[in-house]
Amino acid sequence: GKGNYRHFMEKELHEHPAVLGDTLRQYLDPATLGVNLPNLPFDIREVPRLTITACGSAFLAGLVGRYWIEQLARIPVDADVASELRYRDPPLPEGGAALLISQSGETADNLAAMKMLRARGQKILSIVNVPESSMARESDATVLTVAGPEISVASTKAITAQLAVLACLAIGFGRARGTLSPEEAARLSTALLQVPEHAAAVLAQDAEICALAAEVAGARDVLFIGRGALYPIALEGALKLKEISYIHAEGYAAGEMKHGPIALIDSSVPVIALCPSGPLYEKTASNLQEAAARGGRIMAFTDAAGAPALRRFAERVVVLPDADPFSQPILHAIPVQLLAYHVAVLKGTDVDQPRNLAKSVTVE
Ligand code: F6R
Repeated sequence: GKGNYRHFMEKELHEHPAVLGDTLRQYLDPATLGVNLPNLPFDIREVPRLTITACGSAFLAGLVGRYWIEQLARIPVDADVASELRYRDPPLPEGGAALLISQSGETADNLAAMKMLRARGQKILSIVNVPESSMARESDATVLTVAGPEISVASTKAITAQLAVLACLAIGFGRARGTLSPEEAARLSTALLQVPEHAAAVLAQDAEICALAAEVAGARDVLFIGRGALYPIALEGALKLKEISYIHAEGYAAGEMKHGPIALIDSSVPVIALCPSGPLYEKTASNLQEAAARGGRIMAFTDAAGAPALRRFAERVVVLPDADPFSQPILHAIPVQLLAYHVAVLKGTDVDQPRNLAKSVTVE
């Protein structure tokens, strides 16, 4: 049941700290800070290229995974939605591996992509939430997210659990390939182990995010922007908002704004920015300032160090816990999902069962 929550989505959002803790504990040893990789169907040291594929929000988690795996393990990673990968006919190297990501493990596009990848000699590792699903059964190896059942059609805790698994894989791959030092790996593992506590702190800001939702609920169009591994989280914010509130939203890489979408900016289009401090902060903040100068209403998620400069031009600034840039994408996924939830509630939509959608999409 929903317990004391109004919707399954709300309940599942509030399960974030527990689910992230359970998933991380499965793959990260807090005592040694080492990553326990599952038995892989390939030698990660020899893999020339990794193909990541999935659908919807799971694909967006995969895009974050691409940033992490390329950075930490120095493996070239290709990422495409399953429904496109199948028809793109990409050249796939011998000895290559594919990483499929799915909550349900039953999404038809994924199963079709898996068949194609296998026929082309790729080994299949999947990240799945439902252990007895078709994908889990048919993959060469499976890493489980420990998210528990997800009832809300819009995916929340399963996506952040996928991110947690991808972060562990990136560290594990980096160690196995020798591209990541033990000290740096330990530092990143420590950052990950703080995520459940940070997630709880984000959920405690519910009232503030609800107030932000009130500003957004009247809009016809909303832009989400971020840079680097936060760019896919901007896409996640836009997808979630479209899916459950039916407000048109788009996610953009912050640096792309000036190449077109800035033409949309006026005082009726909220610009929701993911802009925590870190190496990409200055550039993102200056993109935001450009949007503000054109009358854009900037609403930013940031951290204590990032807040003062943004407050000079942003209408609202939500200060999230201080986190290492590595774990920021996981942390930022939570408030954008929570924002979409509150906007949908304000609009009175059927939050758990959005129109035209099914929890598991078993047609191609
Ligand atoms: C978004 C959402 C969908 C799913 C997608 C993949 O909130 O729920 O985009 O992420 O349909 O589903 P799975 O993960 O079951 O393959």
